Amino acid sequence: MLDFQAILNAIYNKGIAAKNKGTVATYIPELAEVDINNFGIHLRTAQGEEFGVGDDNKLFSIQSISKVLALSKAMALIGEDIWKRVDVEPSGDPFNHLSQLELENGIPRNPLINSGAIVISDILISNLKNPKEDFLSYIRDLAGDESIQYNLDVANSEKATGFKNYAAAYLLKSFKNLQNPVEEVLDFYFHQCAIEMTCSQLTKTFFFLSNQGKCILNKVHLRKSQAKRINAIMLTCGFYDEAGEFAFEVGLPGKSGVGGGIVALLPDQFVITCWSPGLNAKGNSKLGMLALEEFTTQTKLSIF
Ligand code: DON
Repeated sequence: MLDFQAILNAIYNKGIAAKNKGTVATYIPELAEVDINNFGIHLRTAQGEEFGVGDDNKLFSIQSISKVLALSKAMALIGEDIWKRVDVEPSGDPFNHLSQLELENGIPRNPLINSGAIVISDILISNLKNPKEDFLSYIRDLAGDESIQYNLDVANSEKATGFKNYAAAYLLKSFKNLQNPVEEVLDFYFHQCAIEMTCSQLTKTFFFLSNQGKCILNKVHLRKSQAKRINAIMLTCGFYDEAGEFAFEVGLPGKSGVGGGIVALLPDQFVITCWSPGLNAKGNSKLGMLALEEFTTQTKLSIF
């Protein structure tokens, strides 16, 4: 029997002692304020056992991790029609890269890079009555937790400085791959990225993707085949130009965000979330990557 708590404790102790914890993202001014010494890990097994260590109950900005949840809502709403507007290939480029989008006629490589997520935001705006309220309710339903909120300071901070996202949205618009006004789409996108959660809440929220589409309250949110597809996209595209490295070192479908969070899962077995705000050169949490590599190495629990 694996002693998950002892394994998490050992990984935490090693990580917190590391001299180089990476660099906190500064391009969204509000994120630059976060203390680099935060470090939390939370694990939930398919049987509902939970294990946590460090700052696993502190709120942080989930940022790009939200792209997976937006994709799952869009899949639930319009199904296969998504793929007329976004592809499912890894980009091999940074999350905010633009030249590929122009070369490929305004069809983003996948829904987990910024341009792809902006198209998904557009789909949600077209298909939800009250987009921001409805999307937040969806997340709260997945987590079984009504306390989850948008951090409006983070959303406004990115709204004032997210020029590359404006460039991506206008490029999409020029290719007629955005139906709603740029300002409206980006307002939704910046809010979606500004959702705050703890490692513990994120682990619960992502449980449905490890559980064939059924959330912790046993409600069906996606079909089994849809959950499988999202996991495939996370494996190939969840870490941008570091997706290969994550599959190589960790071997799980997962998603990172520039707030320093990473969620990863093994279908029918567990979900794990790490948070450490210091990022590596590719924009993924430095300690989070190391912690997950250590976890799958020690437990031998990975998809490979
Ligand atoms: O659009 C952005 O740049 C941010 N709101 C999200 C980027 C992000 O989290 C990339 N993740 N590693």
